[in-house]
Parts: sequence; C-alpha cells; structure tokens
Amino acid sequence: MSSYSAVVMSWQLAREFAVPIRRTVFIDEQNVPEELEWDAFDEPGFHVLVFDDASRKVVATARLSPRGNGLCFFNRLAVLAPWRGSGAGRLLMETLLDEARRRSQRNLELHAQTRARGFYERFGFAAEGEPYLEAGIEHITMRRTLAPPA
Ligand SMILES: CC(C)(COP(=O)(O)OP(=O)(O)OC[C@H]1O[C@@H](n2cnc3c(N)ncnc32)[C@H](O)[C@@H]1OP(=O)(O)O)[C@@H](O)C(=O)NCCC(=O)NCCS
Repeated sequence: MSSYSAVVMSWQLAREFAVPIRRTVFIDEQNVPEELEWDAFDEPGFHVLVFDDASRKVVATARLSPRGNGLCFFNRLAVLAPWRGSGAGRLLMETLLDEARRRSQRNLELHAQTRARGFYERFGFAAEGEPYLEAGIEHITMRRTLAPPA
C-alpha cells in the first residue's frame, strides 16, 4: 500500500502545485473548459495537497470552500491517474472532513460526477435530486451533515 501525507494551504501557497494537477485531470483528461476550471472560489478557499511519500511528488489536490452559515463545498478533487486506486483520494476526503470539522462547518455539499458517486458514499455523502450536466459532465448533488462536537 502506498504511503501519503496531506497538508492544507492557502491558494497563494498551493497554486504552484494544485494548478498543474487540476489542469492535467480536469482540462486535459476530462475536457473541462479552462474558463470554468478557474473560478472566484480558489482565492478564499482552503486547498489540500497530498504527497506521495516515496516519490515526494504532489499527486492530488482538493478544495474546501466555506460559503457562510456552516455551508461548505468540497470540490476540485483530483488524483493524478498513475496514483489512483491506492488511497490518495481517501486521504483527500479524510483531510477535507477534518478541516471542515476544525472550521465548524456543518452542512457539507458537493457536485459529484455520477461515476464518482460510490466514492463519496463511502464518506457518508448521500445523493439528492436528479443528475444534471456541469461542464458537459453528468453530476449529482450530494450532502452530508457533520454532528456538532460532543
Ligand atoms: C475520484 C478520485 C478522486 C478517487 O481517488 P482515488 O485515489 O482513486 O481513491 P482511493 O484509492 O483513495 O479510494 C478510496 C475508496 O473509494 C473507492 N473508490 C474509488 N473510486 C471510486 C469510484 N469511482 N466509485 C466507487 N468507489 C470508488 C475505492 O475502491 C476505495 O474503497 P475502499 O476504501 O473500500 O478500498 C479519483 O479517481 C480522481 O481523481 N478521478 C478523476 C477526477 C475526478 O473525477 N474527480 C471527482 C470529481 S467529482
């Protein structure tokens, strides 16, 4: 099993590493238009970077995007293809969940690509409503509520 480490950073610090990963995964691989990939939520967001301990490369990224009143989006989860299926995505989700708890975010929401729905269900998210197209890709809204600390 591969070994990974995660950190959470501002956009200012993360962008050097997050931009090439998101470009490779979303723009090159999934044909997401450039103008949709880079939005106004990067700057105020909190960005997870996952390092492969063996190669010391940054191989995955994701964004935590609080929107006020405890509503918080998880988005832009991307693991570089050669590192998929070995726990980097799990570490992204665990780090996002820890950071959301730390920041007292209770109402978590994400727009899942429908082919990744099962991945998010493993982390307690439930689908709501009907699928729709975003950036030409079928998505479904998924939500999870975090309990307040005991
Ligand atoms: C979706 C993605 C982030 C998953 O990352 P990953 O590193 O492959 O995931 P992991 O290896 O950590 O898998 C964690 C668990 O989820 C499961 N899983 C992974 N992808 C899955 C999928 N598409 N559907 C259902 N389960 C999935 C794994 O089997 C594993 O289960 P286990 O803990 O029971 O063994 C990754 O495939 C990716 O970056 N895809 C391209 C970008 C993308 O589509 N992002 C999502 C946008 S909504």
